[in-house]
Amino acid sequence: MTQQYLTIPQSNDKIPLIGFGSGTKWQWKKKSSESTAVSNSNPTNTDPDLVNSIIKALETGFSHLDTAEFYTTRPDIGKGINDYLLKHPESKRSDIFVTDKYNSHPPNTPNILDDGSIRGPYASLKQGLKLMNLDYIDLFLLHTDSTPEGLSLIDAWKEMIKLKNEGLAKNIGVSNFDIKHLEILKNANLILPQVLQIEFHPYLQNQSPNILNYAKENNILIEAYGPLVPITKAKDEGPLIPLLNELSLKYGVSDTQILLKWVHSFNIVTVTTSSKIERMKDILNVYSLKLSDEDIKKITDVGNTWWYRAFAIPPLPEYNDQLKAERHVINP
Ligand SMILES: NC(=O)c1ccc[n+]([C@@H]2O[C@H](COP(=O)([O-])OP(=O)(O)OC[C@H]3O[C@@H](n4cnc5c(N)ncnc54)[C@H](OP(=O)(O)O)[C@@H]3O)[C@@H](O)[C@H]2O)c1
Repeated sequence: MTQQYLTIPQSNDKIPLIGFGSGTKWQWKKKSSESTAVSNSNPTNTDPDLVNSIIKALETGFSHLDTAEFYTTRPDIGKGINDYLLKHPESKRSDIFVTDKYNSHPPNTPNILDDGSIRGPYASLKQGLKLMNLDYIDLFLLHTDSTPEGLSLIDAWKEMIKLKNEGLAKNIGVSNFDIKHLEILKNANLILPQVLQIEFHPYLQNQSPNILNYAKENNILIEAYGPLVPITKAKDEGPLIPLLNELSLKYGVSDTQILLKWVHSFNIVTVTTSSKIERMKDILNVYSLKLSDEDIKKITDVGNTWWYRAFAIPPLPEYNDQLKAERHVINP
């Protein structure tokens, strides 16, 4: 397996094409168990299953990890990385690309700091780096366009820029932003986000109206979360399964690989996850797969007849009717 990368605009840093997520079921497993949940008295609590999975993912060949303040999995990501580096002295921190995200209302976290100031992205990442026992993060994102009362989006973005200028975040971006919110940053004459992380798969080819074109025109790299939705959350509905079966037979690969390759064909990074070693290996085997342009188009066209938004993050569901009408989807 030869790792593949895309280039992040502005910095020209390389980002591995496939990220390993610690949200999905991991965050709910961690939050729902007393022995693993983080609390004010135990902010660095970890879930051994998640830490082991992160180590296994790195050993299997993943080199890009995704966490977020909201998931409460920062300590697990940090422990996974540090334990892996101890176990593999030939590897360096700089071999691993780490993404973290600021949230305006993470669990158990007051938004007023001890000195009376509002907890924005700057304080969030400072705390996150301590929780992860890391010196820097490769990519820091605003998880949504929401900010705490008293902190404007522009002020939050200025804090992101400060983190970048100080080298605590090598690259900065946003997640789940629509054009309206990206334009607020653009009109403030500040540097634009380098990366935009959104839900993207054949059943949701624009998370909000025209977002893909806008990102392209403004030199913003897209990361897709939920790339496997057609065979996971939406597997019992939707018209893609027969086509995926046909293509997986034709190319001798899994449905997972077909879906990941389809996303990569748009020069979009994928963030997925699995607790299973066999699936981790399968995901990484996508690098050698080549799909014909004709088959990529078939997936695009069939996917475009069905509607499925797996993550209803406000304000995005407001666009559902408009997006459905644009695509003439056949399901209500
Ligand atoms: N920015 C955001 O707002 C946002 C939102 C959502 C997610 N994310 C990030 O993106 C990461 C990936 O998220 P996702 O849940 O949307 O990923 P996904 O790629 O759509 O799905 C991954 C899940 O699918 C299961 N899976 C994988 N292959 C499968 C198969 N062939 N058949 C059935 N199940 C299969 C895995 O379970 P097993 O463990 O059983 O393999 C895993 O739970 C998250 O962990 C998080 O880091 C970000």
